[in-house]
Amino acid sequence: MTQSLATMAYIGAAILFILSLGGLSHPETARRGNLFGMIGMTIAVLATVLGPRVTPAGVPWIVGALVVGGAVGLYAARKVQMTQMPELVALMHSLVGLAACLVGFASYVDTSVAYEGAEKAIHEIEIYLGILIGAVTFSGSVIAFGKLSGKIGGKPLLLPARHWLNLAGLLVVIWFGADFVGAASVEAGMTPLIIMTVIALLFGIHMVMAIGGADMPVVVSMLNSYSGWAAAATGFMLSNDLLIVTGALVGSSGAILSYIMCRAMNRQFLSVIAGGFGTAGGAPTAAGEAPAGEVTPISAAETAELLRGSKSVIIVPGYGMAVAQAQHTVYEITKVLRESGINVRFGIHPVAGRMPGHMNVLLAEAKVPYDIVLEMDEINDDFPDTDVTMVIGANDIVNPAAQDDPASPIAGMPVLEVWKSRTSIVMKRSMASGYAGVDNPLFYKDNNRMLFGDAKKMLDEVLLALKG
Ligand code: TAP
Repeated sequence: MTQSLATMAYIGAAILFILSLGGLSHPETARRGNLFGMIGMTIAVLATVLGPRVTPAGVPWIVGALVVGGAVGLYAARKVQMTQMPELVALMHSLVGLAACLVGFASYVDTSVAYEGAEKAIHEIEIYLGILIGAVTFSGSVIAFGKLSGKIGGKPLLLPARHWLNLAGLLVVIWFGADFVGAASVEAGMTPLIIMTVIALLFGIHMVMAIGGADMPVVVSMLNSYSGWAAAATGFMLSNDLLIVTGALVGSSGAILSYIMCRAMNRQFLSVIAGGFGTAGGAPTAAGEAPAGEVTPISAAETAELLRGSKSVIIVPGYGMAVAQAQHTVYEITKVLRESGINVRFGIHPVAGRMPGHMNVLLAEAKVPYDIVLEMDEINDDFPDTDVTMVIGANDIVNPAAQDDPASPIAGMPVLEVWKSRTSIVMKRSMASGYAGVDNPLFYKDNNRMLFGDAKKMLDEVLLALKG
């Protein structure tokens, strides 16, 4: 393939990536967006493998890597459960970071292209920054993987003088950067490069370890953005325009997502990075710490009765719906209620579940019509006019303490005001807290009922009772 043909293919792929991102902005067009992305990536890979920069001797290596990488990807995609998707995404981000580091070291020791003067300095700065971003992305994503999969606790690690530690690390990185750029030989430059890489790896670990459970949505989107910048840096090191464009697209869309997540949680980006919001996740509430009031249980048959007698119902899904895989039963119940003339809508919190858009994906999979799935801002004023709100495996996103208790770790986070409806029914298995590890006073309110049990099992019973 000639250079001009490869360039044209790259431009076509870049356009498809932009169309892909545009499509992914709405559930209705997301499938098409994914398709554009897949076609764009196929063109990009083919144009690179068949392009003028790959020698015939390199082709078997590339094909071998494609087969191995493709097989691992296919296996992971088939095997991974929907609830493990956030961990998988974090792991993939770590691979992008690792690739940037490896490419950085490879380009530094590669002496086949001789750079001189300013060009040499620019190339070295590219390498230094590329490895820096790559190493932070790699270690930060590995820790995020650990936290999201529950292998590492959600409690923030708050070292004394941690901000000073970070600042000292930054200054050392700049110091060694000056040493690295313009080093007399590859051997001389290798020491500052390795020291910087170690500091960047430690910084990535420290940054994500310091972040509390409830701030993880911002971390997930932030690492998404970092992985884009790491890919762009790899593009600079390899002089590959498409990688630069693609990396910049991922980097900037991840940055926008981080902004949206911060707004959804009413948090400043810098204070998230400083860490500490939310505590260990999922722990049952310790005796004596529970908010005052009584918990009123309800049965599946009584729930069906209440639903049948309503005019307006709002369903608020959360992480527990994903765990229970209850979305199909939720859809069946929605259908039965709508057929009896009941107005059923869904209220989606921006950080419900464990990844951006988690609930939208599940509901779309179950074929719930998009027009009844509303964002938090669109539906929050409607709760006072709602007869029954069914909270399915959600906890933090419906916690009134965010509004009422300034001392709560989630104070200030916007929540779905489900307690304002005539009756709220919370479906979960126990009184355990959610991901942020805080008590939920909603469970003790007079107009709240608790339907204890696995969401899928309980909803199956509700559906049976509704049909009966
Ligand atoms: P959570 O607050 O985590 O609450 C989920 C609840 O589901 C738990 O309290 C659990 O209670 C219940 N549950 C689990 N399995 C269940 C099952 N099989 N059947 C019924 N209930 C089940 O979830 P949320 O309300 O969706 O809030 C999301 C939280 O995750 C926020 O704190 C958010 O900051 C954080 N987070 C979000 C993201 C993104 S990007 N969305 C990423 C990382 C973290 P039981 O154990 O008693 O059943």
